[in-house]
Amino acid sequence: MGAHSVQVVGSATQSVECSDDQRLLDAFLRSGVYLPNSCNQGTCGTCKVKVLCGIVDSPTPSETVLSADEQTAGYVLACQSTPRSDAQIEVPLDTGAGPRHELRDLVGVVREIREVADETVSVHVELDAPLDFSAGQYIEFTVPGTAAVRQYSMANPPSSGELLEFHVRRVADGLATDGWIFDSLQRGHQIEMRGPWGDFVHDPDADGPMILLAGGTGLAPLKSIALHAMALDPAREIHLYHGVRYRSDLYDVDFWADLADRHPGVHYTPCLSREGGHGRRGYVGDIVIEDFTTLRGYSAYLCGPPAMVDAGVKACKRRRMSGRSIHREKYTPAPVAAESIPA
Ligand code: FES
Repeated sequence: MGAHSVQVVGSATQSVECSDDQRLLDAFLRSGVYLPNSCNQGTCGTCKVKVLCGIVDSPTPSETVLSADEQTAGYVLACQSTPRSDAQIEVPLDTGAGPRHELRDLVGVVREIREVADETVSVHVELDAPLDFSAGQYIEFTVPGTAAVRQYSMANPPSSGELLEFHVRRVADGLATDGWIFDSLQRGHQIEMRGPWGDFVHDPDADGPMILLAGGTGLAPLKSIALHAMALDPAREIHLYHGVRYRSDLYDVDFWADLADRHPGVHYTPCLSREGGHGRRGYVGDIVIEDFTTLRGYSAYLCGPPAMVDAGVKACKRRRMSGRSIHREKYTPAPVAAESIPA
């Protein structure tokens, strides 16, 4: 296996070693070169960089991710591209925003795996040393016996970076869920992981009221963000809306109800789209519209299925929240044949 010298041209110029089987994004984040990134599967376009010289192997992306003009101009997706020679890569100027944690390979031991709702488990994994990450980021699990990885967000705050909490929903015939986590994963088993990844993080500069919109296990990064924000300011005003279809899909109800009891600023609203009888009936975006006449001055964090996130963003904008204050992450299923794509 060979290694190539990649000269990174941005706010500063520095050289990074990148091996033949390594993606540029992976090499950059391990070397302390920050590059915006989100999906790590070639679908969001966040990690685009320009190849100034050298040979870089890169699958042709969809034009919705990189336009034909950008591709002609030499842009590639760093999370999908591998150098085949020494190269020079232009990256966006570093604005100082975004998380700066070194990407690491990790091995953790499962300390608890527990069914918390229909088809949903929480998994607690202990590391040898705390993981340095920002609230909202995710990690990749390597599925044993394969080269495939799946992404799961940390639900614990960064202050407890030695014991990571994940929420996992079963995917029918899912390689990682049906084939492993729901089938054979047990306390004491080791998990190989890589992270942290992602730019969906708590914004330390926004200290006003927050609204959190979660769909299903999209609750995980929002739990981390809420707990981190409350550690900084226990009186923080936080409104959590957790949307699921049925009561049996809800989890962490006692945790949030107890937090709301103890902190007057915390408001917890479970939302069921397919049945009544617990919390509110309807979709989180519609319920937010009902509950607020304005969201001016608020910041929002949304995580869950794409349709839920899109509807939630619309609701926030309809209630006059600034677009800059809206942070979102969409959970998308892993393409079947992909080797390094999230669950
Ligand atoms: S396309 Fe590379 S991070 Fe999304």
